[in-house]
Amino acid sequence: RNYATSAQRNPMFSSVNSDDIVHFKSILGDKYVIEDKDKLDDANTDWLRKFKGSSKLMLQPRTTEEVSQILKYCNSRRIAVVPQGGNTGLVGGSIPVFDEVIINTSRMHKIVSFDKVSGVLVCEAGCVLENLISFLDNEGFIMPLDLGAKGSCQIGGNISTNAGGLRLVRYGSLHGTVLGLEAVLADGTILDMLGTLRKDNTGYDLKHLFIGSEGSLGLITKISILTPPKLSSVNLAFLACSDYRSCQKLLLEAKRKLGEILSAYEFLDAQSLDLALKHLEGARNPLPPLMHNFYVLIETTGSDETSDKQKLEAFLLDSLESGLISDGVLAQDIQQASSFWHIREGIPEALLKAGGVYKYDLSLPVEKMYDIVEEMRTRLGSAANVVGYGHLGDGNLHLNISVPQYDNTILAQIEPFVYEWTSKHHGSISAEHGLGFTKADKIYYSKSLETVQLMASIKKLMDPHGILNPYKVLPPSSLTS
Ligand code: FAD
Ligand code: MLT
Ligand code: ZN
Repeated sequence: RNYATSAQRNPMFSSVNSDDIVHFKSILGDKYVIEDKDKLDDANTDWLRKFKGSSKLMLQPRTTEEVSQILKYCNSRRIAVVPQGGNTGLVGGSIPVFDEVIINTSRMHKIVSFDKVSGVLVCEAGCVLENLISFLDNEGFIMPLDLGAKGSCQIGGNISTNAGGLRLVRYGSLHGTVLGLEAVLADGTILDMLGTLRKDNTGYDLKHLFIGSEGSLGLITKISILTPPKLSSVNLAFLACSDYRSCQKLLLEAKRKLGEILSAYEFLDAQSLDLALKHLEGARNPLPPLMHNFYVLIETTGSDETSDKQKLEAFLLDSLESGLISDGVLAQDIQQASSFWHIREGIPEALLKAGGVYKYDLSLPVEKMYDIVEEMRTRLGSAANVVGYGHLGDGNLHLNISVPQYDNTILAQIEPFVYEWTSKHHGSISAEHGLGFTKADKIYYSKSLETVQLMASIKKLMDPHGILNPYKVLPPSSLTS
């Protein structure tokens, strides 16, 4: 499968020639101007192994200054580029569509500073999320975001996609926790917005343009982020519910009764659990293998071990008595807790192992959220395995349609139905993964014409030659008018 089947290469872009290679080597040295076929193969292929670009060149800068020199040169030569972090994105945003040069940030992995008083961490964009989590753990702090891809994804990629993840329900989105950024614009200008202040109302807060713009407006090189202190008591429950309505009512109860200690509220349906148990190494059902239709993970994080546990246990007892949950287990130690998380976080990997997967990442009113899964099951019958899981606490459903192999007749049953349905219910067709390449032309299901026009004007102002991550986020037609 190649992108080129559904897009046209912009003829205004130059192809890389031998003089360009010489120039890039003069900036980075030979070692970090990569033409090796195997390395390029990986960098051209997305995590889902669904699409493949055909870039002949990957650059690995170490410093902001090098990024600036690279972009200045590419802009003058009209060479298109794609910023790449951990390449775990799920919408085809992190790989080239055609022969764009890959600018990979993996070498930019330095922690610049950490202030133990304010909890503000300043680091380079290529820091792997899990490394930041470990670093902060030693300092007695945590990252305000966590996600299944933490072992590979980088903070620059997280911010560029405005990744949500498992803790958003407690700590909010990166638009709230990111305090500052350094970014390089298409023409090589370095924008220093690396503030560390909680409050700063001096003019337009331009950092927000880079949060979630998927590398289409600039390349993020450094970040500053507010990190919460690590609290002493963390508890995790794995619960079963007999119907979706109970999962939803349980959420309201959890918000009311667990209040400030609630730190995650995730759900998966029985079909998702089956996939995880079948395909994930070491996965074990935390509950006796009875038939439940839904499972919920509730995590609490607080500062008083005794009262937090009492609070959670009382909540679980009440919920059992009222019939909101039909079974449940509380993790007894860290190993058990991580085995519960392994199931939830491993669903994307299980889906990948099961065959092809059509992925939809939807924001919907919580009470309507599961209807689309059931409607999709009715539409597709036995042709596909339709599963639903996600961040229920944030109103974010991951609707995934697992198929033995990709099939256009199945796809025609799914799209545009899924987008029309979401739009009709005033949802978002991309809650947290972004639009990338695969969903750029779907933007109008969630945004008005006028809004997209303003986005296109901003893109044209900041990147007049359109060299930054072309064919992504905005439909190409919005940029030509
Ligand atoms: P990449 O995939 O390399 O890039 C993503 C996008 O950002 C691309 O458009 C790229 O061009 C751009 N980009 C990357 N770095 C920069 C930079 N420095 N400057 C400018 N642009 C840049 N997402 C969620 O929101 N919540 C989840 O819970 C979640 N779980 C996941 C679980 C798994 C197993 C996987 C595989 C993915 C998951 N994702 C999730 C998807 C998600 O978007 C990311 O994993 C992550 O945020 C991407 O980071 P990355 O470094 O891999 O970025
Ligand atoms: C998740 O929550 O597991 C991720 O966003 C990945 C996915 O949607 O599959
Ligand atoms: Zn998610």
